[in-house]
Amino acid sequence: MDSRRALYVCLYRIFTIADVAYPTSKHFPSQAFFLVFSLLGSYPYFFFLRSTPSSSSSSDPSRRFLRNASWGGPAWEKRVRSSARVRSRNGITVLVTGAAGFVGTHVSAALKRRGDGVLGLDNFNDYYEPTLKRARQALLERSGVFVVEGDINDGALLRKLFDVVAFSHVMHLAAQAGVRYAMQNPSSYVHSNIAGLVNVLEVCKSANPQPSVVWASSSSVYGLNSKVPFSERDRTDQPASLYAATKKAGEEIAHTYNHIYGLSITGLRFFTVYGPWGRPDMAYFFFTKDILKGKSISIFEGPNHGTVARDFTYIDDIVKGCLASLDTAEKSTGSGGKKKGPAQLRVFNLGNTSPVPVTKLVSILERLLKVKANRVMLKMPRNGDVQFTHANITLAQRELGYKPSTDLQTGLKKFVRWYLSYYSSGKKSSG
Ligand SMILES: NC(=O)c1ccc[n+]([C@@H]2O[C@H](COP(=O)([O-])OP(=O)(O)OC[C@H]3O[C@@H](n4cnc5c(N)ncnc54)[C@H](O)[C@@H]3O)[C@@H](O)[C@H]2O)c1
Repeated sequence: MDSRRALYVCLYRIFTIADVAYPTSKHFPSQAFFLVFSLLGSYPYFFFLRSTPSSSSSSDPSRRFLRNASWGGPAWEKRVRSSARVRSRNGITVLVTGAAGFVGTHVSAALKRRGDGVLGLDNFNDYYEPTLKRARQALLERSGVFVVEGDINDGALLRKLFDVVAFSHVMHLAAQAGVRYAMQNPSSYVHSNIAGLVNVLEVCKSANPQPSVVWASSSSVYGLNSKVPFSERDRTDQPASLYAATKKAGEEIAHTYNHIYGLSITGLRFFTVYGPWGRPDMAYFFFTKDILKGKSISIFEGPNHGTVARDFTYIDDIVKGCLASLDTAEKSTGSGGKKKGPAQLRVFNLGNTSPVPVTKLVSILERLLKVKANRVMLKMPRNGDVQFTHANITLAQRELGYKPSTDLQTGLKKFVRWYLSYYSSGKKSSG
């Protein structure tokens, strides 16, 4: 490390500590930090950010927190209010965390379209290409949704948002996603999926009125459960990855906040969501990229050449499930941080109920891309993935009117059309 870079790292650490030491003084650390950097010149700062590899910058979650600490002021509050303004009769006011993420973008846009007030929150971390998150943000911006840049662990920011807007609902989608990455960067899962969730629920329980909370759990909580299809009543105490364990912990944490504070909470167990504006770390996405580049793709198989299959669920179906969950959520019963009566607590599977072998997914992609894949069959490593997922959606059908309607062929066609147009615009790189 050269001496100038060492100096920046050192300054960075000092200001990170300052941020922790002065959590409510939101301007001091970040402003001082940027003042020092502007005095030192912008080039070295640029060098510092660029020369930090993605994985190592992700391994210190507090960095993300620091980078995104600028908020507040009359103009900012005006944008927040305008984004959250309801424009339809009986509309709801929703804070969507993880709004620049795959699911968050689609849910925010759908809420806005029907006239609800929507405010987004996202820390734009670099788990996968932040340019894609920025492009989703720009899309939301054009439809009138402001995505505040900040971390769900920033209690002062969350409280400020609730001071400015009396949110009736919180759609909590911000999380560290991905099963395999948990072996590389476990602390990011604790930071976002445990500490972050607790912070969101803390702020919600103290808000007046308390909002109703809908949040994303995951089908991964079924872990080693082999009884199919997976029903909400099945055991979920055998997670196969740290990601799954943090989602399972989230469900127990949700129970606690419902029980003690009267928060109305609905957990949604999504099953392998795919579609346009999707996540580059997911197989359907990086298979598409690699097939187009002529690179080989690794397809896993279970013991004795067993099929690996997923209950792939198209994003529009998931969005319908999210909106129905918000619409059927009862009010929280607490006030002043105290429970006044029992409150609603629900968990739903949101899947497609028709698992498809990953080999079939590849065949569909080959047809749509008109390129033959270079397949390499490998034994499934023990890195958190499970062999099979299959949702029983009876409960969601009954309580939410949830009825997925897009099959894999149709959904992938829409994804491929988006992928080709997004990455052929010349400005973006798929890595
Ligand atoms: N996509 C799927 O197949 C799937 C399946 C099961 C569960 N889920 C869950 O659904 C939710 C949405 O998933 P997605 O696919 O849209 O993932 P995503 O990674 O695209 O979106 C999550 C967003 O949250 C943001 N974020 C992460 N940590 C944050 C923090 N501490 N503060 C503020 N923002 C933060 C990220 O920047 C990202 O934009 C997640 O909770 C995920 O675990 C997704």
